[in-house]
Amino acid sequence: MAGHAPSLPDERVLVLDFGSQYTELIARRVRELGVYAAVFPWDASAEEIRLFAPRAVILSGGPSSVCEAGSPRAPEAVFALGVPVLGICYGMQLLAVQLGGTVEPGTPREFGYAEAALTAEDPLLVPAAETLPDGRRGLRVWMSHGDRVDQLPPGFRPLLTSRGAPVAAMADPARRYYGLQFHPEVRHTPRGHEILAAFLTLSGLGRSWTPEAILERLTRDLGVRLAEGGRVLLALSGGVDSTVSAALLRRVVGARLVPVFVDTGLLRAGEREEVEALFGADGLRVVDAGARFLEALRGVGDPETKRKIIGRLFIDVFAEEARRIQGVGWFAQGTIYPDVIESARTRPGSAKAVIKSHHNVGGLPDVLPFPLVEPLRELFKDEVRALGALLGVPPALLARHPFPGPGLAVRVLGEVTAEALAIVRAADRIFLEELRRAGWYERVAQAFAVYLPVRSVAVMGDARRHDPVVALRAVETEDFMTARAAELPPDLLARCARRITNEVPGLSRVVYDCTSKPPATIEWE
Ligand code: XMP
Repeated sequence: MAGHAPSLPDERVLVLDFGSQYTELIARRVRELGVYAAVFPWDASAEEIRLFAPRAVILSGGPSSVCEAGSPRAPEAVFALGVPVLGICYGMQLLAVQLGGTVEPGTPREFGYAEAALTAEDPLLVPAAETLPDGRRGLRVWMSHGDRVDQLPPGFRPLLTSRGAPVAAMADPARRYYGLQFHPEVRHTPRGHEILAAFLTLSGLGRSWTPEAILERLTRDLGVRLAEGGRVLLALSGGVDSTVSAALLRRVVGARLVPVFVDTGLLRAGEREEVEALFGADGLRVVDAGARFLEALRGVGDPETKRKIIGRLFIDVFAEEARRIQGVGWFAQGTIYPDVIESARTRPGSAKAVIKSHHNVGGLPDVLPFPLVEPLRELFKDEVRALGALLGVPPALLARHPFPGPGLAVRVLGEVTAEALAIVRAADRIFLEELRRAGWYERVAQAFAVYLPVRSVAVMGDARRHDPVVALRAVETEDFMTARAAELPPDLLARCARRITNEVPGLSRVVYDCTSKPPATIEWE
């Protein structure tokens, strides 16, 4: 954070990222166990590592092979710290080659579920051990590796063995160095949580990272940082991150907070009213820009062009409003930790990954002449929700599905018109109402209606009409990278179709999208 060093909790774990798709998950699991964890790229400098002064280090997995020339290595600074180190998958192989052992390349790839038997009693694995189907004591684990550790480095002993990995775990108890060939952080390793907990216990780390402690620390840090400098402008979208940011800032700076909500006319039913109910008494400024957005989108059918127009206009509208407000000294936005990790990520062998642009507010910090405050930039989504609950944000709002920055404009296929928006908004409201009533809203990650500008025939009374179609989509996913269409009960779908066709004029039929991602994306545009 430019010009600002937030205080760090005493207990902290460094997760070095070697490019595994699970790196973020490792940090989340450690934090769920009550210890603060931060992710650094694998090529972090010795200086950064020393300054962070972790009490334990975890080396993540990664797509490279330690046997390839030029593949990433753990910085020597990690071993100079004198703290416990846990290497997971690629991380274990790094421990092997960097501490004097060997790794055998290109062994048959072991991928998926495996059973591994204990070969020694060690406090890292014993708490998680169970009786395997063949009667041995061991662990059910998730493997994903090609190379495997051959010769152990001096000081290490083998702890676990599986068919594909004769050394599936190893430990040097004196130095508290541990290696796991499998992934304890994924749910497919059913007792992985206990293994990570044992590593934290062996590292002498307890339960210090709690929502209450997070709130106290953020309140203190932000209080110091924002003690002076004028009013704090916040772009409030009504989503979880910006709402929790607003609630936190309201607590820290009180009436100096100026939340600004841009009504683009592309919002879901009731969104503006909810924001008004929460922050209306806190000097909320609502900018009515629906007509401007509709005008800018007139005649535009291409989805990417629509996104660009909306993004640019949002920045213009927000910046115009900001210029009208007297005494602003800060600009706040609800960036969260996954955005930060992504933008810092160094993929071994490739250029920096491109971060998904943070829709609406992405370009604002460049346009606004104020220092940026990102109060939630250290937090994962679950932590943001827990903080929100402590700050009194209504649970229904915290449980809300994500909503894309360009809003309903990408849920009206082709040209966006006032009529199409009215139809998709009304259908969406009914769909979500029925999902909530049936207890399905919390079971899916995202659910919404889409307006399809095709004409299909409908018979109303005696008249035949040719009207547009509404598609309903509900998906189950953890990461939004892959998703499954939710198998909603037929009677629920039938009720939605009946209500939508009865209550929303101007459409002919309702269909349900049963496609997975891939190949289909979650949104239709
Ligand atoms: P897709 O459609 O790519 O969606 O499978 C994955 C997730 O990203 C959201 N999404 C967006 N979010 N601006 C956003 O802020 C966008 O332009 C955008 N497009 C998709 C989508 O809602 C889902 O959660």
